[in-house]
Amino acid sequence: MILVLDFGSQYNQLITRRIREFGVYSELHSHKLSAQEIKEINPTGIILSGGPHSVYDENSFRCDPEIFDLGIPVLGICYGMQLMALHYGGKVEKAKNREYGKAEIDVQGEPTLFTGTPKQQTVWMSHGDKVVQAPKAFQVDATSPSTPIAAISYQEKGLYGVQYHPEVRHSEYGNDVLKQFVFAVCGSNGDWTIENFIEMEVKKIQETVGDRKVLCALSGGVDSSVVAALIHKAIGDQLTCIFVDHGLLRKNEADDVMKVFADDFHMNIIKVDAKDRFLTKLKGVDDPEKKRKIIGNEFIYVFDDEAAKLKDIDFLAQGTLYTDIIESGTETAQTIKSHHNVGGLPENMQFELIEPLNTLFKDEVRELGTQLGIPEHIVWRQPFPGPGLAIRVLGEVTEEKLEIVRESDAILREEIAKAGLDRDIWQYFTVLPNIRSVGVMGDARTYDYTIGIRAVTSIDGMTSDWARIPWDVMEKISTRLVNDVAHINRVVYDVTSKPPATIEWE
Ligand code: XMP
Repeated sequence: MILVLDFGSQYNQLITRRIREFGVYSELHSHKLSAQEIKEINPTGIILSGGPHSVYDENSFRCDPEIFDLGIPVLGICYGMQLMALHYGGKVEKAKNREYGKAEIDVQGEPTLFTGTPKQQTVWMSHGDKVVQAPKAFQVDATSPSTPIAAISYQEKGLYGVQYHPEVRHSEYGNDVLKQFVFAVCGSNGDWTIENFIEMEVKKIQETVGDRKVLCALSGGVDSSVVAALIHKAIGDQLTCIFVDHGLLRKNEADDVMKVFADDFHMNIIKVDAKDRFLTKLKGVDDPEKKRKIIGNEFIYVFDDEAAKLKDIDFLAQGTLYTDIIESGTETAQTIKSHHNVGGLPENMQFELIEPLNTLFKDEVRELGTQLGIPEHIVWRQPFPGPGLAIRVLGEVTEEKLEIVRESDAILREEIAKAGLDRDIWQYFTVLPNIRSVGVMGDARTYDYTIGIRAVTSIDGMTSDWARIPWDVMEKISTRLVNDVAHINRVVYDVTSKPPATIEWE
C-alpha cells in the first residue's frame, strides 16, 4: 500500500487515483499520522502531497519528522519536497510570486525517478516557495530556468522530491515518474484489484460484526445498493435493509429494487410504503427549500419508526464514498440547495457506523457492484436526487403532476437508451414547470401542461453543459411525450449550462 499524506493540495485525490490505476492500493491520510501509526499501517512507500501553505507560515502543516527514519521510501511532491528539504538542512525560499502552469525541466544524470523518460520534459508547476539549496546529502535531479532545484534525491535512503505535480496530466511524463517511485523504488507488485478488495473487505466486515446485526437504508441508488450487496455477501441474514418508498420514485423503481435485492439476492428487506405520509406533509407547500427539508426530515422519521421496531441492531451501514470524506471539511462553498441523501443518520440513534466504500472512488464502486453481480441498470444508474420527483414538479406536488413527470421520465429514458446515448449523457430527466399553454390536438383546442427536458453532460455534477441530443432523437421523444402522456401538449428543451443554472430546477 502506498500511503499519501495530505497537506491540503487540490490534487491529492489524483495521486491516490493514479496509483490505484497502476494496480497498487493507495490511501490518502491526514498529515497528522504519527510515525508509529504509519509503522502499523506498514506502507511500502509514503508520498507527501503538495499543499497551499508556506513552510514558514505559523500554522503550516508538518509531519512527524520520524517518518524519514522508518526505512520506508518517501516521495515529496511540491510542499512535500520542501518539507523534506528543510528537514535535512536544505533551504526553502519564500516566494514573492507564485509559479503556476507549464514549465520545461532538464533532467540531470540518470536519476531513478526519471528512468525511461526524456532529458527534457514538460511539467506542471503550481507553487509559491521553492527549494533554493538542496540538503548536503541530496543530489539535484532536475532543473528548470525558474526553479533550479526542480527534483532532488537521496537514493541510499529512498528519499525523493519533485517540485512540480507529476499527478496532473499536463506533466507529460508524470505517470512514468510516479510509476518509477511506486515500482522501482518501493517495489510494489501491482496486483491490487477490486476482487482483492472484496475479499479483504468481507473479512473485515465479518471480524467487525461477529454475530451481531447490521441495518442499512437501501435506496436503489448505486452506493447504497453496493454497500448492501457487499455486507450481505459478508454476513447474509444478519443484515436487514429498510427501503422507504416515499412515492417520489421513478416508474417501476420500487418494484425493481425489490425484485433485484429481495428476490434475486435474497436479502432481508423491509419495504415501507410511506407515499401518503410524504404527500400529506407536502400538501400546499411550493417553496423548493421547504419541500427538500420536509422530505429529508420525513425520511428520517420513517426510517426511525421502522428501525425502532427492530431488536438488537448494533451497526448502521452507509454508502459513504471516498470523495465524500475527503471533500467534507474542505467544503467552503455556499449552500445553493440543501442536499438530502437517503440514508441520513437519524440523530438520536445509537449505532456504530460501517462505511465499507469509504476508500473507493465512484467508478471503483461501479466495478465493485458489477463484480458482486448487481445488474447493469443499477450499477450504471444516473444520479437521482434524494427528494426524487418532488423537485421535478415545480411548486406544489400533487399525485396528478407526479404521474406526468413519472410517465414522461420513463419515455425519455427509453428513447435515450434506444438511441444508445445512455452512457454518454450524464443525467437526463423531465421536469414539469407550472405552466399551461394552448395547443391543438385532433382539431380541438387544448390547454395543458408544458414538459421540460433536461439532459446534461458532466463529470461530477458540480458543473455541467447541456447535452447535444441529435434532432431526430429529440423529435421521437417530443412526439411520444405529447402522444403518450396525458395532459402534455408542449415540449421544451433546457439549453442552460451549470452555472448559471443548476441541473435540477428546484
Ligand atoms: P444541482 O441541481 O444542485 O444538482 O445542480 C447536482 C447533482 O446533485 C443531484 N441532487 C441531489 N442528490 N440529494 C442527492 O442525493 C439531493 O437532495 C440532491 N439535489 C440534487 C442532482 O440530481 C445532480 O445530479
